[in-house]
Amino acid sequence: MTRVFVLNGVNLGTLGTRRPEVYGTMTLDDVQRLLEEEFPDLDLEFRQTDSEGEMIASIGEAATSDGLVVNAGAWTHYSYALHDALESLDVPKVEVHISNVHKREEWRRHSVISPAVDVVIAGMGVQGYVAALSYVAQRRHGPIQR
Ligand code: DQA
Repeated sequence: MTRVFVLNGVNLGTLGTRRPEVYGTMTLDDVQRLLEEEFPDLDLEFRQTDSEGEMIASIGEAATSDGLVVNAGAWTHYSYALHDALESLDVPKVEVHISNVHKREEWRRHSVISPAVDVVIAGMGVQGYVAALSYVAQRRHGPIQR
Protein backbone atom coordinates (compact mmCIF):
# COMPACT_ATOMS: atom_id res chain seq x y z
CA MET A 1 0.00 0.00 0.00
CA THR A 2 1.18 3.51 -0.75
CA ARG A 3 2.16 5.18 2.50
CA VAL A 4 2.01 8.98 2.69
CA PHE A 5 2.84 11.28 5.59
CA VAL A 6 0.54 14.27 6.16
CA LEU A 7 2.26 16.48 8.71
CA ASN A 8 0.66 19.48 10.34
CA GLY A 9 2.76 21.90 12.34
CA VAL A 10 2.42 24.52 14.96
CA ASN A 11 -1.09 25.76 15.89
CA LEU A 12 -2.87 23.58 13.33
CA GLY A 13 -4.40 21.61 16.20
CA THR A 14 -6.72 24.60 16.72
CA LEU A 15 -8.20 24.34 13.23
CA GLY A 16 -11.97 24.80 13.36
CA THR A 17 -11.93 27.49 16.04
CA ARG A 18 -8.87 29.55 15.08
CA ARG A 19 -9.77 32.43 12.74
CA PRO A 20 -12.57 30.53 10.93
CA GLU A 21 -12.91 33.41 8.45
CA VAL A 22 -9.37 32.56 7.28
CA TYR A 23 -9.04 28.82 7.89
CA GLY A 24 -12.66 27.61 7.76
CA THR A 25 -14.61 25.63 10.33
CA MET A 26 -13.32 22.10 9.74
CA THR A 27 -11.21 20.66 12.53
CA LEU A 28 -8.03 18.73 11.85
CA ASP A 29 -9.93 15.51 12.66
CA ASP A 30 -12.46 16.49 9.98
CA VAL A 31 -9.59 16.99 7.51
CA GLN A 32 -8.16 13.58 8.37
CA ARG A 33 -11.57 11.92 7.86
CA LEU A 34 -12.03 13.74 4.54
CA LEU A 35 -8.65 12.52 3.29
CA GLU A 36 -9.26 8.96 4.44
CA GLU A 37 -12.59 8.97 2.57
CA GLU A 38 -11.10 10.51 -0.59
CA PHE A 39 -8.06 8.24 -0.65
CA PRO A 40 -9.07 4.81 0.68
CA ASP A 41 -6.11 3.24 -1.16
CA LEU A 42 -3.50 5.35 0.62
CA ASP A 43 -2.08 4.47 4.01
CA LEU A 44 -2.03 7.91 5.64
CA GLU A 45 0.25 8.81 8.50
CA PHE A 46 -1.66 11.92 9.61
CA ARG A 47 -0.02 13.91 12.42
CA GLN A 48 0.02 17.29 14.16
CA THR A 49 2.63 18.67 16.51
CA ASP A 50 3.56 21.98 18.13
CA SER A 51 7.10 20.72 18.69
CA GLU A 52 9.62 21.50 15.96
CA GLY A 53 11.81 18.57 17.06
CA GLU A 54 8.91 16.14 16.73
CA MET A 55 8.12 17.52 13.28
CA ILE A 56 11.71 17.00 12.17
CA ALA A 57 11.65 13.43 13.52
CA SER A 58 8.46 12.74 11.52
CA ILE A 59 10.06 14.16 8.36
CA GLY A 60 12.96 11.75 8.93
CA GLU A 61 10.51 8.83 9.31
CA ALA A 62 8.91 9.76 5.99
CA ALA A 63 12.15 8.73 4.21
CA THR A 64 10.79 5.19 3.90
CA SER A 65 7.36 6.38 2.67
CA ASP A 66 5.96 7.20 -0.78
CA GLY A 67 5.48 10.91 -0.18
CA LEU A 68 4.95 13.78 2.19
CA VAL A 69 2.40 16.58 2.50
CA VAL A 70 3.31 19.29 4.99
CA ASN A 71 1.51 22.29 6.39
CA ALA A 72 4.21 23.76 8.59
CA GLY A 73 2.08 26.64 9.92
CA ALA A 74 4.17 29.62 11.04
CA TRP A 75 7.40 27.55 10.90
CA THR A 76 7.06 27.91 7.14
CA HIS A 77 8.26 31.46 7.37
CA TYR A 78 11.40 31.07 9.49
CA SER A 79 12.46 27.48 10.23
CA TYR A 80 15.71 26.73 8.43
CA ALA A 81 15.81 23.51 10.46
CA LEU A 82 12.63 22.38 8.73
CA HIS A 83 14.04 23.41 5.37
CA ASP A 84 17.14 21.29 5.95
CA ALA A 85 15.12 18.27 7.09
CA LEU A 86 12.89 18.51 4.01
CA GLU A 87 15.85 19.02 1.70
CA SER A 88 17.33 15.71 2.85
CA LEU A 89 14.10 13.84 2.16
CA ASP A 90 14.00 12.08 -1.20
CA VAL A 91 10.27 11.43 -1.73
CA PRO A 92 7.59 13.55 -3.49
CA LYS A 93 6.97 16.55 -1.21
CA VAL A 94 4.11 19.06 -1.18
CA GLU A 95 3.82 22.21 0.94
CA VAL A 96 0.21 23.12 1.69
CA HIS A 97 -1.35 26.27 3.11
CA ILE A 98 -5.06 26.48 3.72
CA SER A 99 -5.08 30.24 3.26
CA ASN A 100 -3.60 32.27 0.42
CA VAL A 101 -0.50 33.38 2.28
CA HIS A 102 0.33 35.85 -0.53
CA LYS A 103 -2.82 37.81 0.16
CA ARG A 104 -2.04 38.30 3.84
CA GLU A 105 0.65 39.95 5.97
CA GLU A 106 3.99 40.65 4.29
CA TRP A 107 5.87 38.18 6.53
CA ARG A 108 3.63 35.31 5.37
CA ARG A 109 4.59 35.83 1.74
CA HIS A 110 7.97 34.22 2.18
CA SER A 111 8.43 30.51 2.77
CA VAL A 112 11.88 29.22 3.72
CA ILE A 113 10.75 25.64 3.05
CA SER A 114 9.48 26.08 -0.53
CA PRO A 115 12.94 25.55 -2.12
CA ALA A 116 13.04 22.11 -0.44
CA VAL A 117 9.71 20.78 -1.81
CA ASP A 118 8.36 19.86 -5.25
CA VAL A 119 4.97 21.59 -5.12
CA VAL A 120 3.39 24.48 -3.21
CA ILE A 121 -0.38 24.83 -2.78
CA ALA A 122 -1.96 27.85 -1.07
CA GLY A 123 -5.44 29.30 -0.85
CA MET A 124 -7.57 26.24 -1.71
CA GLY A 125 -8.81 25.80 1.85
CA VAL A 126 -8.66 22.23 3.12
CA GLN A 127 -9.12 21.04 -0.49
CA GLY A 128 -5.43 21.90 -0.82
CA TYR A 129 -4.68 18.70 1.10
CA VAL A 130 -6.79 16.72 -1.39
CA ALA A 131 -4.89 18.30 -4.31
CA ALA A 132 -1.58 17.54 -2.60
CA LEU A 133 -2.44 13.87 -2.08
CA SER A 134 -3.62 13.59 -5.71
CA TYR A 135 -0.19 14.80 -6.78
CA VAL A 136 1.62 12.33 -4.52
CA ALA A 137 -0.65 9.47 -5.65
CA GLN A 138 0.13 10.29 -9.31
CA ARG A 139 3.85 10.39 -8.64
CA ARG A 140 3.74 6.66 -7.84
CA HIS A 141 3.81 6.24 -11.60
CA GLY A 142 6.95 8.33 -12.08
CA PRO A 143 7.67 12.03 -12.60
CA ILE A 144 4.77 14.29 -13.60
CA GLN A 145 4.82 15.13 -17.33
CA ARG A 146 4.99 18.90 -17.71
C1 DQA B 1 -0.94 28.41 7.27
C2 DQA B 1 -0.44 29.83 6.96
C3 DQA B 1 0.63 30.24 7.96
O1 DQA B 1 1.08 31.57 7.67
C4 DQA B 1 0.06 30.23 9.37
O2 DQA B 1 1.06 30.57 10.30
C5 DQA B 1 -0.60 28.94 9.70
C6 DQA B 1 -1.43 28.30 8.69
C7 DQA B 1 -2.12 28.03 6.34
O3 DQA B 1 -2.45 26.85 6.33
O4 DQA B 1 -2.71 28.88 5.68
O5 DQA B 1 -0.52 28.47 10.82
O6 DQA B 1 0.11 27.51 7.04
